[in-house]
Amino acid sequence: MKIINLIPAVLLPLICACSFRGGEGRVFEVQPGVTVYEPEDYDASQHSPSPIFIEELQPSGREATSVSDIRPRFSSAFGKNSVSIDVGDADLYGGGEVRSDLRRNGDSQTLWNTENPTGLLDNGKRMYQSHPWVLGVRKDGSAFGIIADNTWRSKLSLRGRVRFKSEGPAFRVVIIEKDSPQEVLGTLAELSGKMQLPPLWALGYQQCRFSYYPQERVAGLADTLREHRIPCDVIWMDIHYMDKYKIFTFDPSYFPDPKGLNDYLHKQNFKSVYMIDPGVKAEEGYFVNEQGLECDCFVRDATGGIYSGKVWPGECHFPDFTSPDVCSWWSGLYKDFMATGIDGVWNDMNEPSVFVDFGGTMPDDNVHRGGVNGLPEATHLRYHNIYGYLMVKASREGIMAANPHKRPFVLSRANFLGGQRYAASWTGDNFSDYSQMKEAVPMCINIGLSGQPFIGPDLGGFMRDCTPELMRHWMASGIFFPFARNHASVETINQEPWAFDVQTEDICRTAIERRYRLLPYYYTLFEEASRTGYPVMRPLFWSDSKDRSLRAEQQAYLIGNDLLVIPRWSESPVLPKDGWNLFSMEEQDDGYQSYLALRQGAALPTVKVFQNTVEYNTDSLTVLVNTGRDGKAVGYLYEDDGDGYGYLSGDFARYRIEVGTTLGTVTLNLVQMEGNRLKDKRFLRIGYVCDDGIIYSPWAEGTSVSMPEPQSPKTALNAENLEFVYLKNGSLSKKQTKMELILSNIVN
Ligand code: NOJ
Repeated sequence: MKIINLIPAVLLPLICACSFRGGEGRVFEVQPGVTVYEPEDYDASQHSPSPIFIEELQPSGREATSVSDIRPRFSSAFGKNSVSIDVGDADLYGGGEVRSDLRRNGDSQTLWNTENPTGLLDNGKRMYQSHPWVLGVRKDGSAFGIIADNTWRSKLSLRGRVRFKSEGPAFRVVIIEKDSPQEVLGTLAELSGKMQLPPLWALGYQQCRFSYYPQERVAGLADTLREHRIPCDVIWMDIHYMDKYKIFTFDPSYFPDPKGLNDYLHKQNFKSVYMIDPGVKAEEGYFVNEQGLECDCFVRDATGGIYSGKVWPGECHFPDFTSPDVCSWWSGLYKDFMATGIDGVWNDMNEPSVFVDFGGTMPDDNVHRGGVNGLPEATHLRYHNIYGYLMVKASREGIMAANPHKRPFVLSRANFLGGQRYAASWTGDNFSDYSQMKEAVPMCINIGLSGQPFIGPDLGGFMRDCTPELMRHWMASGIFFPFARNHASVETINQEPWAFDVQTEDICRTAIERRYRLLPYYYTLFEEASRTGYPVMRPLFWSDSKDRSLRAEQQAYLIGNDLLVIPRWSESPVLPKDGWNLFSMEEQDDGYQSYLALRQGAALPTVKVFQNTVEYNTDSLTVLVNTGRDGKAVGYLYEDDGDGYGYLSGDFARYRIEVGTTLGTVTLNLVQMEGNRLKDKRFLRIGYVCDDGIIYSPWAEGTSVSMPEPQSPKTALNAENLEFVYLKNGSLSKKQTKMELILSNIVN
């Protein structure tokens, strides 16, 4: 026998034995429907404590009987560890931030937080945040969730089966098995934590650009917003407020008096949010750098030296947020900063982004000291994906210590599964173009289905000049996103609602007014999200997970269970078959506002237009009611102080809105279910949704109101009957008219 013949016979098995391993180790149940699978060579020290879970997963003690057809298969080859899971023909969602269709079957992405402006790198398959998480919905509407408990750089593939392939050591997988997507999301939140209730002001409209400076321009912007009666709650300060982009400083000539500016904004009922990046300018004498050097707080390179990399200020050092000492130093920096009257913080560039190349970051072999919750010392390759997560955790702690009686608000660009506990997020830099406006819908829904309810894109688009037409469409369809902020880049034209023409301004104002009128509903939903982990912005299939026709709809979307938003630019949207009715909030249709539909059986609280949340009250509530066949409707209303923590000790009210029809009379009752907060005086009216528009009851003082049942029919929602504006070759050109939209009397 020639020696060459021996190669396949002898060497191949040898090579395989060295390179391909795999197999299941321990399997245990955490609670019914939640099972942990460890590979046989699992080394917990490489992954725990997990940043995903609020506490370490413990065996329930029962045998893992809930093991379903979904069973991870572990393997290891050439230094990469994988898990592969056969999910049959389930529809797949989640994976956090990615440019993709809503239904993600056939797609893939890299989980490696990357500054990826407009998603140009890897076609958006590697973005600012990483969520090693997949939601699957089966034919019968039952659902499962898959968590790969792994922070290391990895790939997620959804081609045929679900596959995670990591550059780190073997990792465990958690499978959630439930009867519905709602239950899966609820269980994910139980395990990985929930967004804390944000201050009410963070739900208002927000105005931003890179950057508003000097401070007179900021004050002028505040004046103009009020003069033009554009409801708005927040003005954002991007990097130009800083002295040479040095964090925790103010430019002495552009922002000589930040306290004075913040006071001015507060007087006009605005809040201010200021940016803080992680990069600390490596400049001698600069207090943050000096303190960081002194406390040995910066990330080190593989040789043990302090790592430095370029960002906006030039060469920078980077705080090592894996260390508890670094975190307490960092948190402490917020004390004086917040004392200038700053209301919220924007943590940007925290992938972390380093200007080495497009999408660059620090080297994989940089060293982090560890210590936070017992994290061990390890390389950047392990901690990169949670750098932003740990940063916003420390920022949040600092802000809370600085303002113990206020609810913190932090916006982060980078994050990780579980990071909803610490910060809201936006989708990073996008283009002012129609395709990115449309993409934001599935992107934000998938982030919501990955545990982060507080999310939105830069409305109007960040890079390139927005056109008036695009602005109108973007505001009219995007104002309903949970986070609603208009933001534009430094090189672009102005993008405020009035920056184009009067018609555009009017359309934007109408859209923003819609958001403010719906605020009681939004606040109720955010409070629900803080208890349940449910997304605020939901896919249509959330309304009926058994209806397979809704599984890929990614233009129309739901806010909560009761409000359906159908953007005017939708092309043949697939809408729920029945059970919804259109309503309009204006007397005149401007041709841009999204179609809105109310679920049959829903009662949705609204208020009259107001300019900012300081003015918010529910003294007069118009409840939009869409009675079901049984003449009934139900809704909820949550109220508290809008800020602070009184709600945790009972200073809140949760009402159930109960509507019934008897002998030709529709009656609405507001029933307080929970909370000690009392309201002595309130006026109520019903806004009855039907084909004749909205028919109003008279106002009544108290907790009950009635009206004769309107005899108008209710035509089921049908996309065929709506007028849409179609996109052609990237711009809007063709209009199709089939039927006049039924317009109602103005609400309030
Ligand atoms: C990048 C962020 O994504 C963008 O929103 C911001 O305006 C710039 N950094 C400047 O700070």
